[in-house]
Amino acid sequence: MASTPRQKRGEPSPAAGRLPETPALAPSILTADFGRLAEEIAAAEEGGARLFHLDVMDGRFVPNLTIGLPVVEAVNRATQLPLDVHLMIEEPDRYIERFVQAGADLVSVHQESAPHLHRTVRLIHDCGACAGVALNPATPVGVLEEILPDLDYVLLMSVDPGFGGQRFIPAVLSKVAALGKHIEGIGARAVIEVDGGVGPDNIVQVVDAGAGILVAGSAVFDGRDPGARARALAALLAGARRRG
Ligand code: DX5
Ligand code: ZN
Repeated sequence: MASTPRQKRGEPSPAAGRLPETPALAPSILTADFGRLAEEIAAAEEGGARLFHLDVMDGRFVPNLTIGLPVVEAVNRATQLPLDVHLMIEEPDRYIERFVQAGADLVSVHQESAPHLHRTVRLIHDCGACAGVALNPATPVGVLEEILPDLDYVLLMSVDPGFGGQRFIPAVLSKVAALGKHIEGIGARAVIEVDGGVGPDNIVQVVDAGAGILVAGSAVFDGRDPGARARALAALLAGARRRG
């Protein structure tokens, strides 16, 4: 991994080809049935998932513990779709290379837990993955000003991270719109990903605000027919794409 050629500032990541066409549905497996994970993934993929979102939590940065490297490897064996690994952990630099080796195509770290973002983003790129920075709902997008040209995507949290099934925080919509305008204004390439409380009632609104990757956890995986639920969300995205 360390031998991957270093990327110059503002150049697309070597993994940029793994970014899906937007708007794209990214089911989060957090609320999936882990005893039948491969089947759940296959059903969501069949229903129109374009990538899978994997929530890694350390019980320190967020008040919950979830999955680690073996589950990322298992999901990687279960699907050819890109894996979008959302690191909600302290000191993320210690694990980035191993998550990419496990199959991560996109890796995001939180601005709130990664104080040296140029170093961290460079590390993600040097490992060969697309780099994203995640912001909690209360963190203003202005903190990304200096790093934005280097990013493949920005993950705007629309709930406080830690759990699936929380309620969407509507104030994030204006953040999405403002960031979208700014990205366009400076000619950056970053795609906006929105994560938390996204479902059939608001997914079109979130796309209209400017999001390109829509994470949906409990709206896809809640024990009932993830294929049909993914298909319904994918149809809403296809409608939004036709209008857009
Ligand atoms: C929350 C996670 C989200 C979550 C989304 O900390 O980052 O990805 O799983 O789940 P829903 O869509 O149920 O809010
Ligand atoms: Zn997430």
